[in-house]
Formats: sequence, structure tokens, C-alpha cells
Amino acid sequence: MSGTQRLDWVSRPAKAVHGDVVVPGDKSVSHRSMMLSAIAEGTSHIRGFLEGEDTRATAAVLAQLGVRIEAPSSGERIVHGVGLHGLRASSQPLDCGNAGTGMRLLAGLLAGQAFDSTLIGDESLSKRPMRRVTEPLATMGAKIDTPDGLPPLHVRGGRKLHGIRYELPVASAQVKSALLLAGLYAEGSTEVFEPHPTRDYTERMLQAFGWPIEFSPGHAKLEGGHRLQATDVVVPADFSSAAFFLVAASVLPGSVLRLPAVGLNPRRTGLLEALRLMGADIRIENQGESGGEAVGDLVVHHAPLHGIELPEALVPDMIDEFPALFVAAAVAQGRTVVRGAAELRVKESDRIATMATGLRALGVRIEETPDGAIIDGGAIQGGTVDSHGDHRIAMSFAVAGLVARDAIMIGDCANVATSFPGFLELANSCGFVLG
Ligand code: S3P
Repeated sequence: MSGTQRLDWVSRPAKAVHGDVVVPGDKSVSHRSMMLSAIAEGTSHIRGFLEGEDTRATAAVLAQLGVRIEAPSSGERIVHGVGLHGLRASSQPLDCGNAGTGMRLLAGLLAGQAFDSTLIGDESLSKRPMRRVTEPLATMGAKIDTPDGLPPLHVRGGRKLHGIRYELPVASAQVKSALLLAGLYAEGSTEVFEPHPTRDYTERMLQAFGWPIEFSPGHAKLEGGHRLQATDVVVPADFSSAAFFLVAASVLPGSVLRLPAVGLNPRRTGLLEALRLMGADIRIENQGESGGEAVGDLVVHHAPLHGIELPEALVPDMIDEFPALFVAAAVAQGRTVVRGAAELRVKESDRIATMATGLRALGVRIEETPDGAIIDGGAIQGGTVDSHGDHRIAMSFAVAGLVARDAIMIGDCANVATSFPGFLELANSCGFVLG
């Protein structure tokens, strides 16, 4: 599983980045496509499935629960759905690896089963808060034991679930999705309200699989007692993976990159707006739809960036992109202020602290605040940073290395494979000097 082998990288200053960069499939959509196909009736064909450790862990868990999954080629899965009540107990713990999405969504799904399950994760996942899902699931009638609110999760089966109306205390698509998945098995209606709208892939995909659901930004409602019909899913390219290249081309003079067919769900593209506010030159071409999701080619030219006060309303729409934004802010002229992003402290690492420590080691002036940071842009020096096993931190410092005065040594990069297998090769193919 992830993180077993230590891997360090060196990212060196580069001349420019150029060319077409095809990034892998969306992680959020891949997890959901696997889960819904597994409990649907019939055979679903998934294309563009992310071959990352996180999403493969979810597929392996479902296989362990009795679902037959074929992988005829890379990015392709044929899932033989077992129906809503067709999953079977596993005598072994179910290993979600590094994936918070996998564990939290599966907690909702497994809460409605007739059998007990245990969900475990790697070192990073074992430190991530789980009460945000176990508490509302308990009010639905689920029983999930979680020592100190952390993994492992012992999910008791055979519970009678009932729907709830729940106002999420924090904007979280994972919590919303866990409740909706439990709601499939509950009596009555499950209704979720969010303080800020979050990604709506679960809602859209449930609809595509034929489950009646009402949803609008910040709200979703469904009733138990229906069935899911197998369907084919096309997974768009992951905006969060594209993000590193958007920043790379923006900060490095002389660069032009095209990122084809990237998913542009508005709940994901906050970084695009933030970078444009900073002066970035990013255009969308060939806009269209694929598998019910907005997609388009992103064309990015280098442009001088300036600091901004990041509008707080953008935070949920770019929650995974802050490590990349911090690098853009470190290169931009002037000050960037981020507020309202305390959730960053409970991601794969404490992303405010990990980025602040790393950037400081590279000579950047950055002040941490409880819910954000104040970054004074300028030159980035060479030096040594630790990603703390956080994939997005590792890739962000690889981008920083492009424009640094000297090489950046990045520790603990193996987990990049959780979300972006092949990042190193792809980055080098467009001009990074990364090894
Ligand atoms: C995700 C939701 C977000 C995001 C994560 C993927 C999802 O987490 O950070 O990478 O697929 O639902 P939260 O729900 O914790 O904000």
C-alpha cells in the first residue's frame, strides 16, 4: 500500500514548460463510480478511471466485499454490480490506504449493510478526523466504533437506519456523500444542508444510476428504497492534478501549456478564479460535456502574478489546491492573504503548517494563521523541504523548483502515486527538471 517505500525528489530550475499535458482521471469521480457501480444492478463500464493508489484501494475493498471487477486496460473497469443488498462480509479489515474519501464514503455505505466491517488506513489517514461522519451516521441509527474519533472504524451491520435532516457544521463533500450513501439504505428521507456548496458528484452520479434525488447548490435530498441501475461512466481529467501545471506555466517565463479535456465542475475550479485574480492568463477552449460533467481544454500562458486577498467564498471550490496556490503566492509580487481555510489543517497533512515550514526553508516570508496564511511573494531559494507524505505538497514543491534559484530537495514523495501516478514523467515531458 502507499507510503511503504520512501522516495525523495530533487526539482531543479527550468527554462520553460511547453506542450500538451494529459492529466489522469478525477479522483472524486473515480471513487464514486466504483462504489455506485458495485451496488447497482447490472454491469457498468468505467472509462478514465484513476489508476491511483487511493481509487485502486476503493476498488480492492469492493472486490473484498464480493464485487467482480475486471480491468481490461489502464483506466478501464468493468464492474459487475451486486445490487443494493448483494455485498458480502469480509473477514479481513478493509484497507483504504491514504484515502479520506474512500474511508468516509465507505463508512456511509457499510453502515447500511447486514454485516460488520472494519475500515483501516495508512499512517496519515489514521490521524484524520472521523467523528464528522460517525456522529451524523449514528443519528441515522448506525453504530460505528472509532477510537478517539480516528480510524480504524468498526462498522456494525444489521442496523435499521432512518433518514435525517442534517446541517453540516463544515462544508464537506465527503460527509454529505457518506450520509447520502447511508440514506440509500434508510427508511424515509435523508436531507443535507451545507454551509457552502461542495462538489456534487455523488448527487449527479446517483441520478445517472437512476436513483431519484433532489439537489441544488448546498442542498441534497433523497429517499431510501429505490434501486441503482448499472450505467457507463466517463471520468473527466482531474482539475486538481491540472492545478500543478496551471501554476507551473503561470510562474515560469516563456511557458505555454495545454491541458486537454479537464473536468470543470464549478465546485472544483476555484483556483482558476484565484489565479486569474492574481493576473494569470488561462483560457478555456473546446468547452463541452463528457459523462454529464463540464469539460474543456485549459490553455495557460506565463503571466506576471500579483498578490491578492483571496475571497473566502472561493475556499471550498479550491480546497485541494492550496498547496499549489501557496507556491503561486510565493512567486507573485506583493502579499497574498488566505482566510477561512482551517480545513487545510486536517487534510493528508496539516497543509498550512507543512507549506509554511517548507516555504520558510526556501526563504519565503510566510506567516501562519489558525485558518490560513499571509504570504509575501518574492524569490524562492533552493533548499530542503519535507512533504510529510502529502502528495499535493510534494507536487507543489516540484513546481516551486522550476522557478527557485537553486535545486529543491523534496522528502517523502511516494504518496504522489495516490492521486497522480506518472506525475514525474509527465512533468519532465513538458520541461520540469525533476528526478
Ligand atoms: C473530496 C472532498 C474534499 C476533498 C477531497 C475529495 C470528495 O474533502 O478535499 O480531496 O471526493 O468528496 P472534504 O469533504 O473533507 O472537504
